Order: sequence, then structure tokens, then C-alpha cells
Amino acid sequence: MIPFSRITGTGSYLPPRRVTNEDLAKDLAARGIETSDEWIVARTGIHARHFADADVTSSDLAFAAAKQAIEAAGRSASDIDLIVVATSTPDMVFPSSACILQNKLGIAGCPAFDVQAVCSGFVYALTVADAMIRTGMAKCALVVGAEVFSRILDFTDRTTCVLFGDGAGAVVLEASDEPGILASDLHADGKHVGILCVPGHVSGGNVIGSPLLHMDGQAVFKLAVRVLEEAARATLQKAGKSDTDIDWLIPHQANIRIMEGTAKKLKLPLEKLIVTVNEHGNTSAASIPLALDVAVRSGKIRPGDLVMLEGVGGGFAWGAVLLNM
Ligand code: UT7
Repeated sequence: MIPFSRITGTGSYLPPRRVTNEDLAKDLAARGIETSDEWIVARTGIHARHFADADVTSSDLAFAAAKQAIEAAGRSASDIDLIVVATSTPDMVFPSSACILQNKLGIAGCPAFDVQAVCSGFVYALTVADAMIRTGMAKCALVVGAEVFSRILDFTDRTTCVLFGDGAGAVVLEASDEPGILASDLHADGKHVGILCVPGHVSGGNVIGSPLLHMDGQAVFKLAVRVLEEAARATLQKAGKSDTDIDWLIPHQANIRIMEGTAKKLKLPLEKLIVTVNEHGNTSAASIPLALDVAVRSGKIRPGDLVMLEGVGGGFAWGAVLLNM
């Protein structure tokens, strides 16, 4: 058994079109829907998000983020022997966005597959890659979260369309003798499918049911606050660490109120909370690796720091990963 897997490089990519709350409010007003910068900032902490152009897919965003992560790790694409992409907005029904990404990277042969755990997709994908590395099935994995949520937003529903954005984040995860990923804790509870879903499906050449995102925001909010604390505590316990050991907390970037509430429950000063929701909105599976890369590149997160990653969302699925950078 390889003792550890460790992140050796991070990368991210945001499509260039930045849409502020004011831009969005103007667009929605033209459709007779009222919202405001004040409401969005006060309820969510979001000031802007990025939207991909119509011809740009999740694997395009993933490719840009992956190239950065591979370069940061001092590797080349040919070193990658496993690709795991977390996405709920794949390029096609099949094959996986991971296979499409593999081809864009100009490599072939290594296993490549998608993980579908919505906003907790990245912690699921990282945990799967960690397990495959520690059991000797891979040595140098590319783990990506990539989304074009703008494609599944209902722009007549102000309670959801102001919340989400597009983007991708990636890490290279390598076999290591030094501690990297220390512990993970994953959960799901399928009885909550209905509170956050895109219920539509393809059948006989037609889309059956709504292909747009539906969310009971308050129900999701309440569950998220509870499970994020539980997952963090369980992960700390598995790793033999305590909340005071955490250098940085990167929760799923959905709502600043949920994120600050989680930090407070873990008795962490807000300076230890990595926040990108203000500029990215909620990018689902991409939000955690995007925030991680921003924090690494800004010099906040440094080698050796203890970082808690936490995802929560549709499924209901949630989880946490504790790691040394
Ligand atoms: O990514 C997966 C995880 N997702 C999440 O974590 C999301 C969790 N939920 C949330 O973040 C919050 O519940 C929301 C941001 C979605 C909503 O915030 P809230 O404080 O729960 O607001 P609310 O749903 O209670 O709505 C308050 C009011 C309502 O009006 P009334 O009924 O009080 O008259 C809404 O109709 O705000 C109204 N409202 C809006 N007003 C202006 C809802 N959306 C908007 C809007 N602009 N965009």
C-alpha cells in the first residue's frame, strides 16, 4: 500500500464573461422579474459570477484548469494515469466529460470517468482518486470539478438563477510518502432528491420533465448547515486532529451565510475561511477546487497547511476531506 496521496499542483479557469448582480438584475427586469444587487449580496454574499459562451462545454473549462494544474505540479499530460471529473453538467449524455478531457489533453489509455455528486462532486472525486492511489491503481491522478450551470438555470425563477455560475478547478494528486490527504467522510441521503434537482431526462429523442434546476432554498440551507459541521467533525476525528488544528476551511461556495455559520460552529476565525463565492457565485462541483487554486496562487495556502474541504448539495450528498498541502 502507498501510504498517502498528495496534491502537487492546482489550477482553475473562469470563462471571461463576468456578469455582475446589476447586469443580471437588468436582464431579469427586461423579462418582468425583479431582483437587486442589495438582495443578492445580503442573502448570499454573491456580487458576480462568470457565464460561459453557448459553444463552451464543461470539458473546455476542465481542459484549461487541468493544463494549469499539470504545469503547477511540474508534470506533463503524459504522466497522468487516472482522470476523474466531477460534474453535473457534462458535455453529452455519454461518453463522460473525463474521456472528452483525456482526448483534449492528447493522452489515451488511462482510466477516465465522471463522478456525479452535484455540489459535493469534488470531495467525492478526490476521495475516489485518493483510494485508487493508495491501493496502487494509479500514481498521478488528475481530479477536476467543472460546470456550466448557466445551461440549466431557469431565468424566470429569481430564487435560483441569481445564485450559480460557470467554471472549473483541477488538482494533480500523486502517490506520496509524505502525508497529503489525511481523512475523508462521505455521505448521501436520497430521500431529499426533490429539494435540489434537475428532474428532466432524455427519452425517445425528447426531454421528459423540466431540464432546469429546482431548489427549495430554505430546506437546502437548513440541511447544509447541519451536515457541514458533522462531516468536518467526523473527518477531524478520523485524522486524529481537532478544529484548532485547521489552517484553512474551504466549504462549498454557495452562500456566505452558510460558510460563515460553519466556520463559527468549528470555532474558526473568519480569516481562516477561503471565500470566492463573492466573485464566482455557486459553481457546484467546481467551487472547491476553484477556491483552492485561488487561495494557493494568492499565497494564502502554503505547503504544509492543514486544509478542510467540504461539499454539500443535491442528492442530498455531502462530505469532507482533510489534507496537508
Ligand atoms: O449548491 C447546493 C447548495 N445550495 C445552497 O446551499 C443554497 C441554500 N439556500 C440558500 O442559500 C438560501 O435559502 C437562498 C439564497 C436560496 C434564499 O435565501 P433566504 O434567506 O432563504 O430567502 P427566502 O427564500 O426566505 O426568500 C426571502 C424573500 C422571499 O420573499 P417573501 O416571501 O419574504 O416576500 C422571496 O420571494 O426573498 C424573495 N426572493 C428574492 N427577492 C429578490 C427570493 N429570491 C429573490 C431575488 N431577489 N433573487
